[in-house]
Amino acid sequence: MDRTPVYLDWNATAPLSDAARAAWLEAQTSAWGNPTSVHALGQAARHHLDRAKTDLARMLGCRAHELVATSGGSEANALAIRGATAIRGVATEPPDAAIVVSAVEHSSVLRNAAATGRQVRTATVDALGRVTVDSLSAVLDAQVGLVCLQFANNEIGTVQDVPALVALVRQRAPQALVLLDCAQGAGKRRLDLAALGVDLASVAGHKFGAPKGVGLLYVRTGVRLNPLIAGGRQQQDRRSGTEDAAAVCALTAALAESLDHAAVVEARLAGWFTTAWLHISQDLPLARRNGADDRFNAGGDRLASVLSLVHPGVSGEALVARLDLAGFCVSTGAACMAARGEPSHVLLALGLPVEWARSAVRVSAGPGTTEAEIDAFATAYVREVAAMRPSPT
Ligand SMILES: Cc1ncc(COP(=O)(O)O)c(C=O)c1O
Repeated sequence: MDRTPVYLDWNATAPLSDAARAAWLEAQTSAWGNPTSVHALGQAARHHLDRAKTDLARMLGCRAHELVATSGGSEANALAIRGATAIRGVATEPPDAAIVVSAVEHSSVLRNAAATGRQVRTATVDALGRVTVDSLSAVLDAQVGLVCLQFANNEIGTVQDVPALVALVRQRAPQALVLLDCAQGAGKRRLDLAALGVDLASVAGHKFGAPKGVGLLYVRTGVRLNPLIAGGRQQQDRRSGTEDAAAVCALTAALAESLDHAAVVEARLAGWFTTAWLHISQDLPLARRNGADDRFNAGGDRLASVLSLVHPGVSGEALVARLDLAGFCVSTGAACMAARGEPSHVLLALGLPVEWARSAVRVSAGPGTTEAEIDAFATAYVREVAAMRPSPT
């Protein structure tokens, strides 16, 4: 390819940030020892790790010892769901304790919930992708041991009303733990985990500029987990294995940098996407924006960095391939599902017909995106959809 493609797939992964690269290199050079070794080099790594976790705790509204470093969001969700349901003598443990998931959860939540063998109940969402008080109430009772919710959706950007939903869980199923998947929220919005009132929360570093292969699970003080990985009892025996201080330092630097600019980035993307959507909807009157009305509001109830589009009569897969040839990296939906060619369960949960869901294209932007790139995408989308549609006779 003779020119750099326009990258509009930030919800799949973000490029490594300069701050993360510098922090990784510094830690890997000056503190590469094993953090559990008692000698000076080991203690240098321990010091880096402890300092990073203290900084992370300050940014995420929790305490340092409540953070477990994982390999990413999927492992954090797996550890939360499988680890919490395997602890004896707590509400999540009895074989008849049910797990509640929302219909728009990521596959790492859905598949790990299913793998526990527990009854899994699904809280439906409305046409905008929101779990409502009524839909959650309908699946809560004294049998529920764990409720899995999302901060923001990866495909359509819907941000859930977490405080209201957590309050409802405390009222209707006070014994249940709440897991909040923050893979698409961390770094894009400032999160205060203690104030949100959840028990467990997952973070994926590569979504906001950390290297791939590092994430976090927040485990509120008092919540116990069985480890998925047994071994040297690192991280208070919640996740064994030599800790990667450099990766955690890189994640910390990436989060700090993202949060410094998050509000400004989202505000400017809101403006640019509003213009792009106006262009697309005027030129393609049958196009629909999923999970949202026409406005893009920074800081509101959906991430302004995501535009999920459908259009009747086109194949999303073919459209993504054409856009790729035209120099735009976008996806049909979640990167892991796109490879399987199935219609998105998120779009189906909104009530979209299968054929519409199959036409989906997800565009997601980040701090490095420019106005010119979003404008150029809108023009290319209109052109490619028009080319794929039989012309009116
Ligand atoms: C909402 C959500 N949860 C979990 C994950 C999994 O994170 P990771 O890729 O770090 O395993 C993703 C990644 O796409 C996600 O978007």
